[in-house]
Amino acid sequence: MTSTISIILIVFLALSCFALIILLLGKRSKAQMALREKKADHTAREVGDFYNKQTNNFLKVYGEVIQAFRTTDVTKLLDYQIETIGFEKGQRVLDAGCGVCGPARYFAKHADVHVEAITISEDQVEKARNYITEEGLEGKVNVTHGDYHQLEEYYESDSFDVVYFLESFGHATNHEQVINSAWGMLKPGGKLYIKDLFIKEAAVPSLADDIQREVKNINDAYHYNIADLYEVLKFIRKKGYILSNVKTIDLPLEDFENLTISNDFQDLTGINKIENLQEYVFPVDFFEITCIKPWNALEFGNSRYFLQNLYYMQVHNRKQEEL
Ligand SMILES: C[S@@+](CC[C@H](N)C(=O)[O-])C[C@H]1O[C@@H](n2cnc3c(N)ncnc32)[C@H](O)[C@@H]1O
Repeated sequence: MTSTISIILIVFLALSCFALIILLLGKRSKAQMALREKKADHTAREVGDFYNKQTNNFLKVYGEVIQAFRTTDVTKLLDYQIETIGFEKGQRVLDAGCGVCGPARYFAKHADVHVEAITISEDQVEKARNYITEEGLEGKVNVTHGDYHQLEEYYESDSFDVVYFLESFGHATNHEQVINSAWGMLKPGGKLYIKDLFIKEAAVPSLADDIQREVKNINDAYHYNIADLYEVLKFIRKKGYILSNVKTIDLPLEDFENLTISNDFQDLTGINKIENLQEYVFPVDFFEITCIKPWNALEFGNSRYFLQNLYYMQVHNRKQEEL
């Protein structure tokens, strides 16, 4: 009798533990899901105001290239970007979220491209124009005040070889709209390049809440809307881009800045200051994504990415004899 009761008790306890684990796992994955479904808490106008207020501080700490994932000598980062984006001499390219045109001016000088640049901050436009004049780059770099969610309001469609986002995409209030807007700007065969931070995948379920908390802190502090990589890839594929590359940014460790620059900025401004580094969970990964707008014509799209281009032609009802 006693042993039967013991067995029942053991089975009951085991089942309770199992139920508790399932409950906790469910809670963790809900945290990750909630992060994925989260929409921006800010407007593009608020991002503009943030940069109007903070650009002088960014200039003091970051200099003219406002990117956190960088090399100690920032020209090495920009040289890497010339290489990885694959600029070709004479191309017309669009810098979406250009800051004070630090990268745009460097690319114009060192890769010999013509850059149209856009930022939501009026202060950055003014500063960028001064730099452009000082460096004699009028005609090579042109900066516009505007919102990259609606690039069609500022530029002619199908007119760019490359549209790139350097740590600017994640400010978007609507990532899909931005990807679609960039599509409209690209010539057939043109390239979209995004370098940014993306929500980290929790390696163990117990980290999901910490990641969610720190992502929210960054989003609130910088008017960011850190993207979910899988969701962005879905938007890219849905639109019909040829996804040519997704990778971790390949900066050699000896050149890497180690992100202490973000701490310097936080010390200067008090923004999102991390008090306890010991317990801090780093909530993001940095990736670069490259994709291509298909040609929608076999005479161009036949040599590379044949299948994706063909699929795109079918979706767009190209005539049977062309396929
Ligand atoms: C972190 S800074 C990066 C600046 C620049 N890419 C660089 O590497 O120096 C983010 C930039 O994105 C711009 N930005 C954010 N949201 C934008 C929007 N909706 N339209 C245009 N620019 C935007 C900001 O004004 C700012 O210039």
